[in-house]
Amino acid sequence: MVKAVVLGAAGGIGQPLSLLLKACPLVDELSLYDVVNTPGVTADLSHISSIAKITGYLSPDDGLKKALTGANVVVIPAGIPRKPGMTRDDLFKINAGIVRDLVQGIAENCPKAFILVISNPVNSTVPIAAEVMKKAGKFDPKRLFGVTTLDVVRAETFVQDITGEKDPSKTVIPVIGGHSGETIVPLFSLAKPKVNIPADKLAPLIKRVQFGGDEVVEAKGGAGSATLSMAYAGFRFAEKIIKAMKGEKGIVEPTYVYLPGVNGGDVVAKENGVDYFSPSGAEKANNILSELDDNEKELLEVCVKGLKGNIEKGVDFVHNPP
Ligand code: NAI
Repeated sequence: MVKAVVLGAAGGIGQPLSLLLKACPLVDELSLYDVVNTPGVTADLSHISSIAKITGYLSPDDGLKKALTGANVVVIPAGIPRKPGMTRDDLFKINAGIVRDLVQGIAENCPKAFILVISNPVNSTVPIAAEVMKKAGKFDPKRLFGVTTLDVVRAETFVQDITGEKDPSKTVIPVIGGHSGETIVPLFSLAKPKVNIPADKLAPLIKRVQFGGDEVVEAKGGAGSATLSMAYAGFRFAEKIIKAMKGEKGIVEPTYVYLPGVNGGDVVAKENGVDYFSPSGAEKANNILSELDDNEKELLEVCVKGLKGNIEKGVDFVHNPP
């Protein structure tokens, strides 16, 4: 039995993500939680004739506890999104506290669940989640993920302009590092099947993947950031986790994790001085780094510089709350 929970389910990402999970035949039970509007979203989705039994809760009366009890997979898109001119780091002040409190709920009610953090800044909110779980004595690095799938989806889509490939999702492009601006490092040299990108098009392509979120923030003109493409990406990642839970082998998906807890991750952490990183989903975290070309090595240097500060900020938030 799979029970999936969405925390922040009434939001721009939460609603379409909940729709996709409700329609997914692998989900037996879906529980929604938000501080507003959950009853309406739940009633609406409950009319869909799919397998998942759905319940929804608001914050009072133990809503969080009720939503989380018995959960196997918890997806967190709760928190404020960006407006034009904002970086993901600007969201820290508000979203850090939201993620900390929701993960505390997970530690108390479903400590063995897989935790998928969407709330930005992911580079910092994942370390926050880890520290909360560590404090509670419940941390399992193999069960905590920062969802970076949208960067992968964007890389697949944007490279199609060059390759002309009919189905963009058929080109696999590893994306390593973190989830904001220059901490996102797409590895087009390692695309499968191989892609030929003219030299003058590579730098703009990489930049577009790194800052693709800004295109959506600008286009929405103050109404938020990516929601529909993020719901697609969040579902794609959640579905992979559920399939892995059910025993499917050979699943590879980049995600931002606590490195010392994954195969080969201790080497990457030591060499780069960062404890959190997306090693691209390779079987051994350090394998991929030995394959980077010179340009990608330079991008990696810039990435880890940015990541270090983001990670420290998250860890510090839990130990020295403002
Ligand atoms: P939104 O404002 O539309 O929805 C957020 C929802 O969270 C709202 O319904 C709100 O009531 C709820 N919420 C706030 N505090 C809560 C709490 N304490 N407990 C439960 N629910 C709470 O925002 P949107 O567009 O859905 O974005 C959500 C987050 O996802 C933002 O932080 C955004 O930056 C991030 N994001 C992450 C991406 C990624 O690739 N990882 C991509 C795009 C957005």
